[in-house]
Amino acid sequence: MQIRHFLQFKDFDRQEHEYLFDRTRWIKNEFKQYRRYWPLTDRTLAMIFEKHSTRTRLSFEAGMHQLGGSAIYLSTRDTQLGRGEPVEDAARVISRMVDIITIRTHEHEIITRFAENSRVPVINGLTDEYHPCQILADIYTFMEHRGSITGKTVAWIGDSNNVCNTWLQAAEVFDFNVHVSTPPGYEVEPERAGLYGTDHYEQFASPHDAVRDADLVTTDVWTSMGFEDEAVARKNDFADFRVDAEMMAGAKKEALFMHCLPAHRGEEVDAEVIDGPQSVVWDEAENRLHTQKALMEYLLLGRIGIR
Ligand code: CP
Ligand code: NVA
Repeated sequence: MQIRHFLQFKDFDRQEHEYLFDRTRWIKNEFKQYRRYWPLTDRTLAMIFEKHSTRTRLSFEAGMHQLGGSAIYLSTRDTQLGRGEPVEDAARVISRMVDIITIRTHEHEIITRFAENSRVPVINGLTDEYHPCQILADIYTFMEHRGSITGKTVAWIGDSNNVCNTWLQAAEVFDFNVHVSTPPGYEVEPERAGLYGTDHYEQFASPHDAVRDADLVTTDVWTSMGFEDEAVARKNDFADFRVDAEMMAGAKKEALFMHCLPAHRGEEVDAEVIDGPQSVVWDEAENRLHTQKALMEYLLLGRIGIR
């Protein structure tokens, strides 16, 4: 079987994503029924982290155990990667010892070089440019609450970061619209976002215009990991881009609110919104576990079961 990686959302076509969501539904249900499902017995996942993580680390580690395999956490702080061992060499070595690898790192180019030298599937656990596993969980969560996302409108408020770029790729795969509103100077860069050039997003100067008629309003931290030097300037630049109750009221009445977490209440989102009735952030976080179990199953075993 040819090795597949999941480095960007668009690495899988729509059919593959739909298959993953079908498998997620089944795997989640088995888990909720306390039924053992161990298709990955004796398989090992290496998890390489160059940045902090709670959800990504835990969901991959717990997910691999729940599928019958084991997981090993490697921080760059205490591996040779942190002392300048070439990424290519690390990929060659690590991929001889484990069956699948997830990496959280800085520039996307690092994970690309790693994958090119890996004998086993590599999963992007977040890079400066993309966070594909997050959007797998987000779209699955949307479907659980509202059905198909095709034709719907997602409003992205704030920084055009890794999570935003991935929403834009997903819009092309699933044919929905994204209304993006960022402060001047922080607009989407289509090439960096890896878009096909199809017409699935629109930029709005005002976040209030962006949320109009939206089925989902979503945001993220103003300062992503690795950009801490810009934090003070960003607090100032993003001050008008907080998702508050008034902004939510401009979206559809049944609109959902999502945030990949961790969140800063009183900065990018008010407590009233994230802790309010439209928020599905805890389902969103939980679904990281179920969608990534389906992802690992697919990358290691290919298509199984019924569709
Ligand atoms: N949303 C997300 O990826 O969270 P962590 O940084 O905690 O992994
Ligand atoms: N955009 C954020 C997401 C964290 C899960 C970051 O990159 O820090």
